[in-house]
Amino acid sequence: MEKRHQEQKPEVISDIMWVEKYRPKHLAQIINQKEIVKGLENLMKKPNELPHLLFTGSAGIGKTTTALCLARQLLGDNWKRDILELNASDERGIKMVRERVKEFASIMKLSINQEKNEKPFKIIILDEADEMTTEAQTALRRIIEDSARTTRFIFICNYLSHIIEPIQSRCVIFRFSKVSEEEVIEYLKDICKKEEVKVEEKALRKIYEHTNGDLRHSINILQAASVNGNISVQQVQNAIGISGKSIIAEIIKLAINSKFNESRIKLLELLYVYGVSETDFLKYANEEIYKLDLKDPYEISSLIAEYDYRLANGAHPEIQLAAFLAQLGKINLKKDKSN
Ligand SMILES: Nc1ncnc2c1ncn2[C@@H]1O[C@H](COP(=O)(O)OP(=O)(O)OP(=O)(O)O)[C@@H](O)[C@H]1O
Ligand SMILES: [Mg+2]
Repeated sequence: MEKRHQEQKPEVISDIMWVEKYRPKHLAQIINQKEIVKGLENLMKKPNELPHLLFTGSAGIGKTTTALCLARQLLGDNWKRDILELNASDERGIKMVRERVKEFASIMKLSINQEKNEKPFKIIILDEADEMTTEAQTALRRIIEDSARTTRFIFICNYLSHIIEPIQSRCVIFRFSKVSEEEVIEYLKDICKKEEVKVEEKALRKIYEHTNGDLRHSINILQAASVNGNISVQQVQNAIGISGKSIIAEIIKLAINSKFNESRIKLLELLYVYGVSETDFLKYANEEIYKLDLKDPYEISSLIAEYDYRLANGAHPEIQLAAFLAQLGKINLKKDKSN
């Protein structure tokens, strides 16, 4: 499950959250994506000829991390000053593309000249690019071309099919694969060693079963399950039990049963304690309703689509999601009367 802006959290988070603490800083530390790392290292031998890149694959397998490692290694000291990291799903639409990317790309031209080409170019990392509207992506085409001399783009997405063909064709595409069971387990074991936590092998297998190759989710569960310096299967089970997804199911159930206030409080907990984004809430809600054995999940699905659209258009997320929960309660009332 996507967490909101892990990459942009304050410095201290990197001490608290294992996913940040153990986020690789160098390409060589990235696991499971050997072919990709090899390919990138090859491209990096001639930095001036580096093409635009497009990283695609499921959640939590190293796409953002790889982009950051690449930027760090290519740009050296002060690398943070020379990258623009945008989360496309936050400020979707044409406005973000025009204003922020264009502005950055043109400032880059200036500063590169001033530095007498000390560094070959600047890097724009456009994370969650598949969440951008087609219009925004189309506008981006021009910007990519206009800034070609000074800027390299790294697009990151979960679904390649949501990226328009003209952008795909301007990039070298790298497909990230899910992390294999053995590599997840080895990686988690290593973290346990560093954290001086005792862990049962079975507990690690249990984590993999649940997360299916999503390393971020695996590390989060590992951390949540570590109590008093040890991790057992039972502790893993408990940690899984309180994961974001199961809370979403609970929120939906409460709302359908017209327990509006309780569901809204749980929703706030999900957003602010578990850090799940508003759009992810709707995405997972859509999955959960089909597991709930409802008479008419389709009606709720179209409601979800409507609220997803509103969020995409910049409506206030908290107000919209509260209204969504209130609507769920009404759907239920309508049914009771008709039965
Ligand atoms: N291949 C990997 N090697 C080492 N650590 C990894 C790898 N993939 C993920 N991780 C760990 O999981 C965390 C999340 O990874 P990352 O942000 O790169 O995922 P992502 O592929 O960008 O996922 P999303 O699509 O959800 O943005 C990292 O901080 C790191 O701790
Ligand atoms: Mg990412």
